[in-house]
Amino acid sequence: MRQSSLVVVANRLPLDDNAAPDGACEWRRSPGGLASALHAILEQTPATWVGWGGGIGPAPTLPDIGTLRLRPVSLTEDELRGYYEGFANSTLWPLYHDAVEQPVFDRGWWETYREVNRRFAEAAAEVAEPGAAVWVQDYHLQLVPHLLRELRPDVLIGFFMHVPFPPPELFMQLPRRVELVRGMLGADLVGFQREQAAHNLAQLATKLLGAAGADEKILVEGRVVRTGAFPVSIDVAEMESLSARPYVHNQARQLRHDLGAHKKVLLSVDRLDYTKGIEHRLTAYSELLRDGRVKVRDAVMVQVAVPSRERVESYRGLRDRIEREVGRINGEYGRVGEPAIHYLNQPFDRADLAALYQTADVMVVTPLRDGMNLVAKEFVAARRDGAGALVLSEFAGAAAELGDAFLVNPHDVDGLKETLLQALAAEPADLARRMAAMRAHITAHDIHAWARAYLTALDQTGQLAEHLPRQ
Ligand code: ADP
Ligand code: G6P
Repeated sequence: MRQSSLVVVANRLPLDDNAAPDGACEWRRSPGGLASALHAILEQTPATWVGWGGGIGPAPTLPDIGTLRLRPVSLTEDELRGYYEGFANSTLWPLYHDAVEQPVFDRGWWETYREVNRRFAEAAAEVAEPGAAVWVQDYHLQLVPHLLRELRPDVLIGFFMHVPFPPPELFMQLPRRVELVRGMLGADLVGFQREQAAHNLAQLATKLLGAAGADEKILVEGRVVRTGAFPVSIDVAEMESLSARPYVHNQARQLRHDLGAHKKVLLSVDRLDYTKGIEHRLTAYSELLRDGRVKVRDAVMVQVAVPSRERVESYRGLRDRIEREVGRINGEYGRVGEPAIHYLNQPFDRADLAALYQTADVMVVTPLRDGMNLVAKEFVAARRDGAGALVLSEFAGAAAELGDAFLVNPHDVDGLKETLLQALAAEPADLARRMAAMRAHITAHDIHAWARAYLTALDQTGQLAEHLPRQ
């Protein structure tokens, strides 16, 4: 395979699962912030994306997508269980999200995680041209920066963590904490969504590896590692142009008609994940109905919950509980032809998502913990009309940027109920003012600005490194 000067390494390739009897492949806008974000910037950049194609067994050879080359990494059934479903999504994911679900520690999973990380590092080493920039993504591949540095000391290595990076009290529970911190610190630049995460890493590096330095510059094992906050974003222009399409307007009009023209529409769009606070939200809504403060004849909730990580036990359990609860709420409060909640457990294409966003009076984004939450930003970008209220969890990274949303602590069900009522009753002028401020922010901080900021900072670490004494 030819080599590239920019290599992105992420667990998943952005491929359509059903792509290709004829070899053609299309971008799969897979539900998930990482794929959404990187899709937008890599479509027109000469680069290679190293990642898993989604299946089991030998990976097919994949055609280029525009200027982007795809380098698949294959996984066996055992690797999928130990690396992806196990260590990444049953150990690290819950631990990094405040342990809202109990993390599971399994020694076998760790071995597989390390082995698969090695395979990703080897693939990246193979496709990176001399002096290339290699940008490693997310918690699945935390060991790759260190492994890659051993294989290719000539390349510039970036690492970006899309999810929260926890405080030492939580991280220290990990049996393999030293290796995981050393793995990330193999990078020249470690990027996070929030400053606090960079601070957490600096503290851990000091505690576990005797590092010196401060939050933005860690001195460890004879090297300098830069860190920083780079809040990820969305392709604002794409969402705006989608929202301007006649199809989207017609679709939104139809949805509004189907849901009840005079009703207030509350919308949530999530991957079906226990970090998203779906159960807390349903409790709040059901109590509002029970207390008669919201009536089915005046309001309706739409919960889109796209299936995710379905073979992981905690996700299956969550789906069962949500479906039972939606059934209970509709059984108790719905009327013939008028459900209290529409529950859609399916993927949507971008235009239909944009139509949903345009239909919402209140967008309810209430994760218990979230690295960023791009759905909140997509909603804002889709509201060219300046209308609609955003109810946003304080525990989403997006809250630091979208301070004009109705911010809420989703653990506090009473507070959540009050905030929903406040958003439902807000004056149009107040909503317009809030929306204008949020739109101005995301327009100035879109995905292109994010990639530029990160890659410029990475490039600068390269220039700085040349002036350091060789170890
Ligand atoms: P996470 O990365 O945890 O999934 P984000 O909110 O950051 O959360 O990103 C979710 C991404 O997935 C968004 O780009 C959103 O548009 C997309 N998405 C969410 N639900 C669906 C769905 N039902 N169909 C298609 N895409 C979806
Ligand atoms: C989050 C993670 C991504 C991941 C996505 C979807 O956004 O940060 O790395 O790709 O969820 O999850 P999945 O397990 O389907 O890749």
